[in-house]
Amino acid sequence: MLKPMFSTVAETYDICNKFLTLGLDKRWRKACAKQSSNGHLTVDLCCGTGDLTFNLLKNLDQNSFLLGIDFSKEMLSRAIAKKSKNKLVSKDNFAFVIADAAHLPLKGNYVDTIKISFSFRNLLYKNPKAIAYLKEVNRTLKPDGKFICVETSQPKNRFVKRFFRFYCLSIIPFVGGWLSGAKPAYKYLGNSAANFPVPFDILAMFKRAGFTDTSFKPLSFGVIGLYMASK
Ligand SMILES: C[S@@+](CC[C@H](N)C(=O)[O-])C[C@H]1O[C@@H](n2cnc3c(N)ncnc32)[C@H](O)[C@@H]1O
Repeated sequence: MLKPMFSTVAETYDICNKFLTLGLDKRWRKACAKQSSNGHLTVDLCCGTGDLTFNLLKNLDQNSFLLGIDFSKEMLSRAIAKKSKNKLVSKDNFAFVIADAAHLPLKGNYVDTIKISFSFRNLLYKNPKAIAYLKEVNRTLKPDGKFICVETSQPKNRFVKRFFRFYCLSIIPFVGGWLSGAKPAYKYLGNSAANFPVPFDILAMFKRAGFTDTSFKPLSFGVIGLYMASK
């Protein structure tokens, strides 16, 4: 159900993001990119149109490799189109790959760091396979490998929380639906963000999937956060 949904919104995805976050999405991805990347192989999981991938690429040294993975051909096509416009991308130490996060085409104990921006919710929200997704990430990471996600969160302050829920449940479906012509997709986005589990529960899921050193860092009044764990 999610794959066709993302394929439908691919064309307007970037502009909707910019509009709905007032441009803050850029800053939030940067915060994720800045978090320590261990070692030589980094994966941008569910990379979509590649904005986190290109951020990570800026600081990638010549001996390291970066993989952007997504299951939507349409989203990846947009990332590839951006690649030719991006000056940094004369680099040949990165690639985009079509794959489902449920079955990563990677050996076990192989990846140093897996990062994910604004897709983590899709893997976990009301998803009976949530723990299986986390276990698949865990399987591919090297011992002490890092998993770093930037995602919506649940603000603690009740005024911020009230505004956040109103924004998710009323503004996002309306504005996103209008800009993209795909109202159900933005209704899903708003609902999943408004009802996403609190950080404590997400970190408990990490632990159930075998992760250690779990932590959470709120950004922008806790509307967004960095969820982090080690294998
Ligand atoms: C909200 S977009 C986020 C894209 C990008 N990471 C960003 O920061 O803008 C979610 C992306 O996750 C991808 N996705 C969702 N579930 C997936 C799965 N099971 N396997 C691979 N990609 C998935 C979708 O195709 C889509 O490109």
